[in-house]
Amino acid sequence: MSAKVIDGKAIAKKVRSEVAVAVAKMKEEHDYVPGLATVLVGDNTASTTYVRNKHKACQEAGIRSIGREIPADISQDDLLAIVRELNDDPTVDGILVQLPLPKHIDDEVILGAIDLAKDVDGFHPLNIGRLAMKGRDPQFIPCTPYGCMRLLKEMDVDLNGAEAVVLGRSNIVGLPMGMLLQKANATVTICHSRTKDMVEHLKRADVVIAAVGITEMVTGDMLKPGAVVIDVGINRKDDPSKKRGYRLVGDVDYDSCAEVAGAITPVPGGVGPMTIAMLVQNTLEAAEHKLSQS
Ligand code: GUN
Repeated sequence: MSAKVIDGKAIAKKVRSEVAVAVAKMKEEHDYVPGLATVLVGDNTASTTYVRNKHKACQEAGIRSIGREIPADISQDDLLAIVRELNDDPTVDGILVQLPLPKHIDDEVILGAIDLAKDVDGFHPLNIGRLAMKGRDPQFIPCTPYGCMRLLKEMDVDLNGAEAVVLGRSNIVGLPMGMLLQKANATVTICHSRTKDMVEHLKRADVVIAAVGITEMVTGDMLKPGAVVIDVGINRKDDPSKKRGYRLVGDVDYDSCAEVAGAITPVPGGVGPMTIAMLVQNTLEAAEHKLSQS
């Protein structure tokens, strides 16, 4: 079997252009343009690139963005003051504090201080709590899991009663992903570093979400034939043929898994572009919500 390739780049482009149309309409009808504020603490190379790409996507969608770049040694209180300032800024609809934060800062305190109506990352404890509860919905869904759900939707994957296995239990991806799949009526198993027999779980999975950060950990022989595989991993693999000496690969060994899976996301070009697309969508939704209240 040769799997269908899930083209995250094309689907993300579609989402971003839908947002751009809605932003243009908002500008015309309400003379208002949504605004996103990003907060980048320190100079982590990956975080800097991610934040730069988020600004670029905002610009393309017609969303205003402002970036706060802050030295890594900022105190927790000073960072809190910046978040509160952005909470009070009426031109800011969404606030994104890029993670990870330096070790001396408690991210729960910072994320919990973000105004719920501006929590476009969906990481506020109350949003996560609502995501976990039956019959309740969060105001915002965390962008990477939201993007994975959109990919599954675009591929017409029937999650009702499906066996879904999530590899990884991070607050950013694994945990909210499991909750979203459960809300969509899948039977969810979350595997992590202490799971005794990951392959046993994988073998019966109709849907696999890999978010562990281990290079090409999942191989084709671990999968059920026809499984839908969503690879959230972005890992560097040495590759002397590349100018920079490495290439990006996922948590899934693409070649062997594509032989067995029914559909699979590539890395790059799968989940990565979706995270940013869902952020611009959440920012638009935050502005729409604000306008509907005024
Ligand atoms: N770090 C890695 N992914 C994310 C994300 O989706 N949002 C934020 N704020 N930080 C991240």
